[in-house]
Amino acid sequence: MRGWIFLLLLARLVDFSMTQQTNSLTWLSYLRNRAYSHGYGRSHNNNFGSLSTEDEPSVLDCPLECECPTTYPKAMYCNNRRLQHVPFVPSHIEYVYFQNNQITSITNGVFDNAPNLAWISMHTNKLSSDKIGKNVFAKLPNLERLFLHNNNLSRVPQGLPCSLRDLYMNHNNISVVPVDSFRGMSNLTALHLQMNAIEDLGNALEGLLSLTLLDLRGNRLKKIPESLPPKLSQLYLEYNRISSIPADFLSQRPELRFVRLSHNQLTNGGIPANAFNVSTLVELDLSFNKLERIPTISTSLENLYLQANKIKEFSVSSFCRVVDTNNYSNLRVLRLEANEISAQDIPNEAVLCLRLATNIDL
Ligand SMILES: *[C@@H]1O[C@H](CO)[C@@H](O)[C@H](O)[C@H]1NC(C)=O
Ligand SMILES: *[C@@H]1O[C@H](CO)[C@@H](O)[C@H](O)[C@H]1NC(C)=O
Ligand SMILES: *[C@@H]1O[C@H](CO)[C@@H](O)[C@H](O)[C@H]1NC(C)=O
Ligand SMILES: *[C@@H]1O[C@H](CO)[C@@H](O)[C@H](O)[C@H]1NC(C)=O
Ligand SMILES: *[C@@H]1O[C@H](CO)[C@@H](O)[C@H](O)[C@H]1NC(C)=O
Repeated sequence: MRGWIFLLLLARLVDFSMTQQTNSLTWLSYLRNRAYSHGYGRSHNNNFGSLSTEDEPSVLDCPLECECPTTYPKAMYCNNRRLQHVPFVPSHIEYVYFQNNQITSITNGVFDNAPNLAWISMHTNKLSSDKIGKNVFAKLPNLERLFLHNNNLSRVPQGLPCSLRDLYMNHNNISVVPVDSFRGMSNLTALHLQMNAIEDLGNALEGLLSLTLLDLRGNRLKKIPESLPPKLSQLYLEYNRISSIPADFLSQRPELRFVRLSHNQLTNGGIPANAFNVSTLVELDLSFNKLERIPTISTSLENLYLQANKIKEFSVSSFCRVVDTNNYSNLRVLRLEANEISAQDIPNEAVLCLRLATNIDL
């Protein structure tokens, strides 16, 4: 009999502890997140906002399927969990990590509760463009980094915020880049679009006043994009279908330092006489093309890659207009292997002109 009373007391005690605020909040949070991931109750924050305590918001708000470490109260980690939906994002979160899951869609309003988001990492999921709601990112005025690489996007999402600084959309299947995709992104410094199916960018790059890196490797471009941004310093265009270069392409881009055009379809006929004779350039990669002659380059250039072309002649005048003690090239590395010339084809004055070279590969 006494044992029964004891058990009943114990049960009451347990029951009482279950009703403690923390437990009930955790339970509510759990229900809320479940409701959310099923698409109900989008205004839950208003319903339950009064229950949250100031001390442990991250613990109480954190969706069960994610982790919100108290040591990084602005971050929420939901990566590598086989998730199929975007979990609820509490309003104080600034950095979310959803990468390496199986997320196929981003429904409208999913980020509306978290206007402070600065980073969204969603790479390596299964996102398709037709399952991304209209303007899902548009109400995030502080978003600076967006990682969407390694998905199944076929077009650049609409309404990306102007505040972006780094945008990763590489390794998708993007062929559609609406002309206003990057409009107003005056702080964007790096745009990663490599390994997609882009044929033409039109004027989409216009107005990217801060862009320094543009990676378009492995697309289907037939020409160099128009309206290259004024501060562009690194331009990666390898593995496209480019056969010619506009005459003023470099001279109007004084900041360009690194230009990579290997694995394209360039011929000498497609390269105007002084296209690469520009003193700002430091590295020029023209390997794996169809060149038969060495194009004229500036004496300031330091690295020139010309391997795997059809070059038949070592023309010193391509490097030095005048060769004497005061006039020489700054070239350090010259790669010419897999062409139609050999060491015997290098004339004597090359030694004087290329006196700074440390590496000449034939
Ligand atoms: C990728 O998207 C296309 C539509 O653009 C769709 O047909 C295809 O099933 C998607 N593939 C995967 C693996 O989701
Ligand atoms: C660019 O950055 C500056 C300084 O951080 C900020 O004041 C400005 O609002 C940003 N521009 C855009 C379009 O977000
Ligand atoms: C890529 O997009 C094209 C249409 O633009 C489609 O035909 C093709 O199936 C897509 N590839 C994949 C792997 O989804
Ligand atoms: C290359 O540019 C320099 C400086 O602008 C110029 O003096 C030189 O004549 C040009 N080279 C050729 C081959 O036109
Ligand atoms: C050759 O060197 C002299 C002396 O440094 C310089 O004045 C001249 O401009 C140089 N010529 C060329 C074509 O670079």
